[in-house]
Amino acid sequence: MIETGADGRSWLLSGPTSSYALRLDDEDHLLHLHWGPRITLADVAALAGAPLPQWSFESPLDGREEYPVEGGPRFAEPALIVRTPDARGTGWAFGSARAAGDELRLAFRDPVTALSLTLHYRLRDGHDVVERWATVANTSPDTPLEVLRADSATWTLPVRGSWRLSQLHGRWGAESRLTRVPVGHGAHTIGSRRGHTGHGHLPWVALDADGAAGEEHGEVYSCALAWSGSWRLATRRLPDGTVQVTGGWGHDDTGLFRLAPGESRTTPVLAGVRSAEGFGGASAAWHAWQLAHVIPSAAQDRPVLYNSWEATGFEVSEAQQLALARRAAAIGTELFVVDDGWFGRRTSDRAGLGDWWPNPDRFPRGLAPLAEEVRALGMRFGVWVEPEMVNPDSDLYRAHPEWAQHVPGRAPTEFRNQLVLNLARADVAAFVEEQVHRLLESAPIDYVKWDFNRSFTDAGWPGQAFPERLWIDHVAALYGILDRLRAAHPSVAFESCSGGGGRIDLGILSRTDQVWTSDNTDPADRLAIQHGFGQLHPARVMAAWVTDSPNEQLNGRVSSLRFRFVSAMAGVLGVGGDLARWSAAELDEAREWISRYKEIRPVVQRGRLHRLLPPDGAGPSAVQYSLGDEVVVLAWLRAQSFGQPAAPVRLRGLDPGAVYVCQDTGQVHRAAVLLHHGLRTGLRGDLDAAVFRLRRAG
Ligand code: DGJ
Repeated sequence: MIETGADGRSWLLSGPTSSYALRLDDEDHLLHLHWGPRITLADVAALAGAPLPQWSFESPLDGREEYPVEGGPRFAEPALIVRTPDARGTGWAFGSARAAGDELRLAFRDPVTALSLTLHYRLRDGHDVVERWATVANTSPDTPLEVLRADSATWTLPVRGSWRLSQLHGRWGAESRLTRVPVGHGAHTIGSRRGHTGHGHLPWVALDADGAAGEEHGEVYSCALAWSGSWRLATRRLPDGTVQVTGGWGHDDTGLFRLAPGESRTTPVLAGVRSAEGFGGASAAWHAWQLAHVIPSAAQDRPVLYNSWEATGFEVSEAQQLALARRAAAIGTELFVVDDGWFGRRTSDRAGLGDWWPNPDRFPRGLAPLAEEVRALGMRFGVWVEPEMVNPDSDLYRAHPEWAQHVPGRAPTEFRNQLVLNLARADVAAFVEEQVHRLLESAPIDYVKWDFNRSFTDAGWPGQAFPERLWIDHVAALYGILDRLRAAHPSVAFESCSGGGGRIDLGILSRTDQVWTSDNTDPADRLAIQHGFGQLHPARVMAAWVTDSPNEQLNGRVSSLRFRFVSAMAGVLGVGGDLARWSAAELDEAREWISRYKEIRPVVQRGRLHRLLPPDGAGPSAVQYSLGDEVVVLAWLRAQSFGQPAAPVRLRGLDPGAVYVCQDTGQVHRAAVLLHHGLRTGLRGDLDAAVFRLRRAG
């Protein structure tokens, strides 16, 4: 709901539990008033009456503006930096306000640079997530405008004694691990300079006052960016103690984009949510909003997939994949995905990227016969691609070396023997789209795993007057390609992968159906990765595979099928082990776990997540998903010591008067007992795990 103050110069956006308010002062400065619990327009008027502080060495605007620009009485880092050949900075005048439906638009103009700036606010019905973004336009008839920085939004927190910052950090194989630090004086910046979201950080922060919030209680403010290229999120504590979060695309304040006369550009969304119910409440608000408004077809549960990568690597062939598919179908998987190695001369990572035709030695009849066999087995068929890349050893590179990003005169830097195609070039983007389109026409393909296995390094573009545009335009082109492919092939689902979790963000999630969470499939490490991932994103998109034990890829850890399955059942379950080597008993057990997952899947993929115990130590950890009368608890024990029984797990969010029945044992549980005393898991030994399915019976 959006309300406008009587003077037409203040606005109040209210969701079910929170409100956001802002106003224009007499000089057209757009000032932040409130982000917190629900308030009324009368409260907004009271807040608007508070005078701005006046100090001779400090700006009255710093820390109070909705979108700080460069110039005038401001010293804080600006969200917007522009320049023309004659001027730099922004001095704006208010133009118009439009509140229509769930969106508020406020338009400003700078007569000196001819910049037009529109700030957007959207609050979807029934949600507390405020979406913010900006549109910058050059209204000059003849002068170009250069934008050095254009953040999506600046968020201002209420004044409190201190703030604690939560972030999700990582690297390849160890993504999205949660850490919390006090907010110090100055800036704490996270981001990516790599051209993609990166493994280093998920574009998300959460802040709680005085470090006092827990999973279920306390005020938490959280922001997340919808962009899959380079980005920056800065949490800043200003000299007067005000804390702001500012962020958007681009990492450096150098050459973000240029606007020719008449041109405009819209930033990605930087969304924010405030919860009074702790980190768990903030996650639940993020999840509900993504399921309703970000993730395509989120009401459809994701199938259990089989992926051949860890089993067969680059050594793939039609007969061998079919043999795997038969075993995968027999244990109940619903989607069979052929990973890398099926195309061009791709027998290792040294060749073939760019040549998207089936390798004639491996798939002499193309992919269609295998796809049809897989379908006949009752599964859907998927295929791996990495269309933004090229190996120098490929027909594509030999024909078009100029299509790869490169800096003239410098040797291109190779990672995994590959270069990045310059998707910002219209001809390259058209080629990439056509290749994937033709592939999808060539066989009954239901699923595309879209990978991206190296970062930008030589982001040059010979002959281009402003090569910096490549950083944004590559991602914009990718989004356009995915959008058009989805429109042309509406039944095909897409997975975002980047060497595991190198491209996970709200931008890619608005055009893909699930993401590959990490190349680390060790079930114990995964618990920590999943714990972080779920702070922002729902289980419905978090792909998790059961692979072989010992874990060959990472650490040699030995774990039971039980532990591996229960770990992966916390997200979108998949299997990635070499089924050709699994014994009959293992295949039987796998079939049982998959069947059990299908029973709990709606609750896991669509239910409300409660993180009961974090996976940080040797003791038990657990998550709970609740949907209607159904409750699922997944519990794990890392290592038992001294025969000490695992502590009971206290459930959350239940009606204390309710009674639940365990669907496996028939045991009756009183909710009041589950909430206060907990559920006895019976976990013991090392790497034990269990699933509990409870249904309300009264
Ligand atoms: C990286 C992905 O994360 C893996 O799952 C696999 O698809 C390989 N790329 C294939 O090259």
